Amino acid sequence: MALAGMFLMIFLIFHLATNLLMLAGDGGKAFSEAVTFLSESPLIKVMEYVLFAGFLIHILLGVILQLHNYRSRPVKYHTRLRSETSTFSRFMFHTGVIIFVFLVIHLINFFFIRLGWVPQPDYAAHKHDFYSVAVVLFKNPWYTAIYLVSFVFLGFHLKHAFQSSFQSLGLNHTKYTPAIKVIGTIYALGISVGFAIIPVYFLFFY
Ligand code: HEM
Repeated sequence: MALAGMFLMIFLIFHLATNLLMLAGDGGKAFSEAVTFLSESPLIKVMEYVLFAGFLIHILLGVILQLHNYRSRPVKYHTRLRSETSTFSRFMFHTGVIIFVFLVIHLINFFFIRLGWVPQPDYAAHKHDFYSVAVVLFKNPWYTAIYLVSFVFLGFHLKHAFQSSFQSLGLNHTKYTPAIKVIGTIYALGISVGFAIIPVYFLFFY
């Protein structure tokens, strides 16, 4: 689960970097070129399968872990002791479910158009014209709100996930763990704020 999660965290860095090209102020030229290049690259095509396998493994193991936790203690503790577990760690399954729902909406908004599973909108010049899709989508305050709220939960999920994935792989050290926690917080903030800038830009400044 930790390995699949780490892979997804790396994907998010690349995904954010590509999407930030939307803000280049060139009418989406650089972004569209990047998307066309990526969608035609055989390596990326293979990576897409690996990515979806990563999501699947991560989600399946997450559900199994949650069921296991529930079976171990179907009746909740009466009083919760102040323990090492942070609020973020206790809500990993819940924030995960929210991210899953977001992902389904998000894939319908963008990726499924490329696959032809969702009809290409009239305003899109071709099935890779995700810039026009983003402009129309984020001009709608409801979609912007759904994306922004999801990014808050994504940030919470990633904050714990980052540190926890290292711990699961055996790296739990008095010297390194505090540094990993700080890097995890910076990573989670960077990813969620970085993604949030995109809908905010289209809604208010485009
Ligand atoms: C404002 C934020 C975001 C924008 C504008 C955005 C945009 C896009 C676009 C344009 C695509 C289609 C790319 C293609 O098919 O060539 C896509 C696909 C995808 N997005 Fe996002 N995305 C955002 C946030 C996220 C987040 C936060 C996640 C994960 C939690 C995510 C996960 C995915 C996945 C798994 C795919 C399908 C695989 C791929 O095409 O790379 N996206 N996104």
